[in-house]
Amino acid sequence: MVAYGSERRLTGSTGVLGVIGDPIAHSLSPAMQNAALEALALDYIYVPFHVNPLHVGEAIAGMKAFGIRGLNVTIPHKVAVIDHIDEIEPVAGLIGAVNTISNEGGRLVGYNTDGRGFLQSLKEEADREPPGQRITIIGAGGSARAIGFQLAVSQVERLVIANRTRGKALALAAEIADKTKCSTVGIGLHQLESYLPATDILINTTSLGMHPQVDTMPPVECGKLPSSALVCDIVYNPSETLLLRKAAACGLPTLPGLGMLVYQGAAALEIWLQVKPPIDVMKAVVKQELENCSQN
Ligand SMILES: NC(=O)c1ccc[n+]([C@@H]2O[C@H](COP(=O)([O-])OP(=O)(O)OC[C@H]3O[C@@H](n4cnc5c(N)ncnc54)[C@H](OP(=O)(O)O)[C@@H]3O)[C@@H](O)[C@H]2O)c1
Repeated sequence: MVAYGSERRLTGSTGVLGVIGDPIAHSLSPAMQNAALEALALDYIYVPFHVNPLHVGEAIAGMKAFGIRGLNVTIPHKVAVIDHIDEIEPVAGLIGAVNTISNEGGRLVGYNTDGRGFLQSLKEEADREPPGQRITIIGAGGSARAIGFQLAVSQVERLVIANRTRGKALALAAEIADKTKCSTVGIGLHQLESYLPATDILINTTSLGMHPQVDTMPPVECGKLPSSALVCDIVYNPSETLLLRKAAACGLPTLPGLGMLVYQGAAALEIWLQVKPPIDVMKAVVKQELENCSQN
């Protein structure tokens, strides 16, 4: 891409990256990734593609045909794309979902950077590492799967998965234990309270607390957690959820979801272009986009 003053222009050699999803219009990734590419002065553009589930195979084949260097994959395509790529990295294979595809000279390799993004946020923003930690995850959906498997292969001491639908918590806990040998427990939300005193890191992966239901939170009595317990919420809109406000009021350290969002995107950029992503630029853009959304 050629820069004229502050403007970037497409040329015949501009590389293409993007994101596929359905819907896609509200994705924050194009603003975040284009800001990063611009800050790094890279001749790439990042494009949102609205892909109907009926056309996932054609979209991925198109990646090869158009020479698209990399794609992020969002809801609802993270599982379906697996049938159309050439190779899958081990953790993404365990998770059974791909959120990043890298076109390595015509060979499509699938990754899952969601769990990796969470771990990076944990390390960089909360100064915590998984080994030896007793983790409680609330929720058993797609992001709980990604974070759960990533933590399970990162030497945590124990993983408790608590979910409204208890059967899903039991199934995910059993699958993680089976595939990784990590010690896991699956419980219903009503059993959560008894596990709080033995929790070092609590992670909300449910949509409770997310805009517009900002007055909701999972049933966590923060006073029952150890005083050093870290309370994380992967919900990033609002930036501070009711759960995090309650935890902070109890004097507990907290970790909001914006970091995971930024670090999962940063990990994709690293995979595609082997660059050091400009985290501060990416965070600032996402914050600004979220502020713009809340004003509209
Ligand atoms: N920070 C980031 O980068 C990032 C990345 C991905 C997702 N997220 C956020 O994470 C949240 C979940 O995403 P996901 O893709 O994992 O969703 P998902 O696969 O649909 O899973 C949703 C989970 O939330 C639970 N849940 C939903 N409503 C509930 C309620 N009223 N009470 C109790 N539990 C409830 C569900 O429980 P049941 O099984 O009982 O239905 C399920 O465990 C969203 O808010 C999303 O924005 C953030």
